[in-house]
Amino acid sequence: MNALAATNRNFKLAARLLGLDSKLEKSLLIPFREIKVECTIPKDDGSLASFVGFRVQHDNARGPMKGGIRYHPEVDPDEVNALAQLMTWKTAVANIPYGGAKGGIGCSPSDLSNSELERLTRVFTQKIHDLIGIHTDVPAPDMGTNPQTMAWILDEYSKFHGYSPAVVTGKPIDLGGSLGRDAATGRGVLFATEALLKEHGKSIAGQCFVIQGFGNVGSWAAKLINEQGGKIVAVSDITGAIKNKNGLDIASLLKHVKENRGVKGFNDARSIDPDSILVEDCDVLIPAALGGVINRDNANNIKAKYIIEAANHPTDPEADEILAKKGVVILPDIYANSGGVTVSYFEWVQNIQGFMWDEDKVNAELKTYMTRGFKDVKDMCKTHNCDLRMGAFTLGVNRVARATALRGWEA
Ligand SMILES: NC(=O)c1ccc[n+]([C@@H]2O[C@H](COP(=O)([O-])OP(=O)(O)OC[C@H]3O[C@@H](n4cnc5c(N)ncnc54)[C@H](O)[C@@H]3O)[C@@H](O)[C@H]2O)c1
Repeated sequence: MNALAATNRNFKLAARLLGLDSKLEKSLLIPFREIKVECTIPKDDGSLASFVGFRVQHDNARGPMKGGIRYHPEVDPDEVNALAQLMTWKTAVANIPYGGAKGGIGCSPSDLSNSELERLTRVFTQKIHDLIGIHTDVPAPDMGTNPQTMAWILDEYSKFHGYSPAVVTGKPIDLGGSLGRDAATGRGVLFATEALLKEHGKSIAGQCFVIQGFGNVGSWAAKLINEQGGKIVAVSDITGAIKNKNGLDIASLLKHVKENRGVKGFNDARSIDPDSILVEDCDVLIPAALGGVINRDNANNIKAKYIIEAANHPTDPEADEILAKKGVVILPDIYANSGGVTVSYFEWVQNIQGFMWDEDKVNAELKTYMTRGFKDVKDMCKTHNCDLRMGAFTLGVNRVARATALRGWEA
């Protein structure tokens, strides 16, 4: 099932549990606006190249739309629609005053020079500057984009609208980025995992973890979980997979990854088949790389008791059913990886206040939001007698539905 079909299915199940009016249900699914623009730039050799830029703005009932901009050669409109919709439910679950959006440019960033990427980003911003804004739609980095991309958008947007740091988040610190943003999704995963394990009478210390993906989210989650006494026994990334049943030395692994651009070849571990990472023995499995990786082909062989969805949409609905029968507890993406967008919200707040928070304040506020979010999800599980995924979906959908009705937008 593709990402959009799976997201729509989860939304519809939640709408039924909530007893939503069918017209409201339909209107919540339809994106607010879909933008598609041609972006033509001169390449470094003087020739012209055209790219398609897009932005799906899904919903703004609770506040400005919020979501990443990705640069990737295979931009799949269905996936972007799904991710924009997931942002709407995610910001509502986190209870931050935003809606949801997602977008990007169909390009291969590694084939473009820095100055070509800058020109492309500036042309894209020129084409959409009237449709984004501090109180309209606030982009952030995603696959293939980074704080520098956000700096170019900020600068180009500010030419039209005056200096506007709050128009994007995930900026460099020197341009109004927030302390703690880099680690935020991984730190949110730590707080989410702590909350789940506490509910089951356990703590991070003494549990065995396996992590797929060792980029921003996976490596920060590994570092912070390890600092709390969690034993990380296997990790993987695009270069390969490694295992040490006595626990990987995460500080040394981080150094190795920095020097070698991947986990492959790490001394104090043995190489394993990357396809087996998800079915390795562990207590807690953290997919932190790609969507759709847990599916009917491997769900039966998963040994973890808990799955923390750090990646977006890592579990296919068919796998959800298989894992539920096995008693595996899944902490869903729209709650588990919401730490990043939550600290993006703190960045926006700091820009609007014109006041920079220290890192301890950012981390403490994040903990408050993640801990409260877990309690809110659990309350919905009790009300609707459902699992954590439906608890999170009913929580998010209900908040957006209430805002929609209060604003008088019901069809
Ligand atoms: N960065 C954030 O703030 C954030 C927020 C919410 C959700 N997410 C989601 O978390 C996931 C990871 O994001 P990130 O920011 O860490 O990205 P990243 O690009 O920094 O890291 C991705 C990691 O996945 C690895 N990877 C890629 N293909 C793989 C494969 N086939 N097998 C194993 N590993 C593979 C890469 O080598 C890399 O280590 C994505 O699904 C993203 O949408 C990220």
